[in-house]
Amino acid sequence: MTQDAPFDPRRFKAQERAGFNRIAARYAGGAPLRAALAEAVLNAARLEPGLRVLDLASGPGLLALPAATQVAPHGWVLATDIAETMLAEAARRSDDTAPLLFAAADAEHLCVPDASIDRVLAGLALFLFPDPARALAEVGRVLAPGGRVVLSVWGPRAEVPLLHRAQDAIATALGPPRVARPSVFRLGEAGALAQLLDAAGFTDIRVEPCSFSCPFDDADAYWQAFLDLAGGVAEAMAQVPESRLAAVRAAVADAIAPHRLPAGGYRLPATALVAVARRPD
Ligand SMILES: C[S@@+](CC[C@H](N)C(=O)[O-])C[C@H]1O[C@@H](n2cnc3c(N)ncnc32)[C@H](O)[C@@H]1O
Repeated sequence: MTQDAPFDPRRFKAQERAGFNRIAARYAGGAPLRAALAEAVLNAARLEPGLRVLDLASGPGLLALPAATQVAPHGWVLATDIAETMLAEAARRSDDTAPLLFAAADAEHLCVPDASIDRVLAGLALFLFPDPARALAEVGRVLAPGGRVVLSVWGPRAEVPLLHRAQDAIATALGPPRVARPSVFRLGEAGALAQLLDAAGFTDIRVEPCSFSCPFDDADAYWQAFLDLAGGVAEAMAQVPESRLAAVRAAVADAIAPHRLPAGGYRLPATALVAVARRPD
């Protein structure tokens, strides 16, 4: 936890759901900034025609849409998310002929039969679940023997200025959040993700870093891009009066000063981890 308020998983999930519903279209608009990461996850999944794929916490279908093309015509992709507007956005962006299904679902309680899936994808999501071990137990349950999960999480905090500069600015200007949140970097520290996958019974675990950086014209563009990525924080910021938000924006400009480019604008780096693991036969 990054603050003193007690953690309430239900309240936290409600804020995430409201926030990701709020930003669904804008989240899709910001996706090109993280295209290298989506590509790394899809490459690691080694999809092929005929596979049955579950895209967990799919958002606006950034992984699900290309995955559906790769498993067509006889395979399919089930895109799930706790935020139904995200799924509506995915449906809007998809081609009617793509083998895509949608179901609003909490990743910790999946409405999917046992051993019915060949690949589970989960991009930038596991750290958002209050109980990641429970979500991985669900992944193991729905995967067929020998099936694989491929997921991405943010790396260690120090290697993700893309997020932590905005978080630092919020903490400076507003103090701790009202709804306590687990750190989005909690699975990025060395060994944490592999240990969690191992404890959930997966084998052949591989974790690789994926580093990229994102350009922004100015501090306001960076701040908006951060809000378009972090649904729960966007929801919290929507409750903050404009007078206090001005202080946050000023703090953001200070926080990203180290990333200013000589020719103008900013470039903020990030490292994510991409993990692949197999359910034993
Ligand atoms: C950062 S977005 C990632 C979206 C997409 N997978 C990607 O790779 O860009 C996180 C997604 O997780 C969803 N989410 C958050 N908590 C969830 C939960 N408990 N169960 C299912 N989805 C959840 C959010 O609604 C949001 O769409």
